[in-house]
Amino acid sequence: MRTAVYPGSFDPVTNGHLDIIERSAKLVDKLIVAVLNNKSKSPLFTVEERVRHLQIATQDFKNVEIMSFSGLLVDFASKVNSNIIIRGLRGVTDFSYEFQMALTNRSLNSDIETLFVSADTQYLFFSSSQVKEIAHFGGNIDNIVPPVVREEIKKKMKDI
Ligand code: COA
Repeated sequence: MRTAVYPGSFDPVTNGHLDIIERSAKLVDKLIVAVLNNKSKSPLFTVEERVRHLQIATQDFKNVEIMSFSGLLVDFASKVNSNIIIRGLRGVTDFSYEFQMALTNRSLNSDIETLFVSADTQYLFFSSSQVKEIAHFGGNIDNIVPPVVREEIKKKMKDI
């Protein structure tokens, strides 16, 4: 069985991430979306919230599973018997960072390959930070995030 891991912070998940998930899920038997539990960052949403958002947003994709991880990505991939890491590329600006990360991961475990999936043009300009900034100032994020995030981000913004 071919299993791939699509890692990220997903704080919050955007329609751009969902586009990459949908495309990648077609290429493998199982796609594990791996939410980084990074204690050194202070995310808007807890890792449990981010996992739940992804579970709701991907419920129609039958071969997609959502998990969280901490520590090295290559160790997580080995643990779930995957030798494929998926990363989305939104343009050349993503490339040097992603290439460096792919080579670092290869130096840590040469059995694991990184595959780049290009995002659809309509999602090229999104990032999670922009979503948070737009929501913070009351802007419209309806076309950028799935409905579950749209609702929950409004509640969060009221609380902070
Ligand atoms: N659509 C929309 N936004 C996208 C996107 C897409 N298709 N692809 C990436 N982004 C955005 C994210 O929203 C995020 O935006 P933000 O910076 O505004 O929050 C940004 O690009 C970074 O994306 P993310 O996927 O969260 O990557 P990251 O740079 O935080 O890396 C890991 C996450 C998990 C891959 C990486 O930190 C990791 O592997 N950590 C584990 C430790 C490790 O193994 N280190 C050694 C390897 S370097």
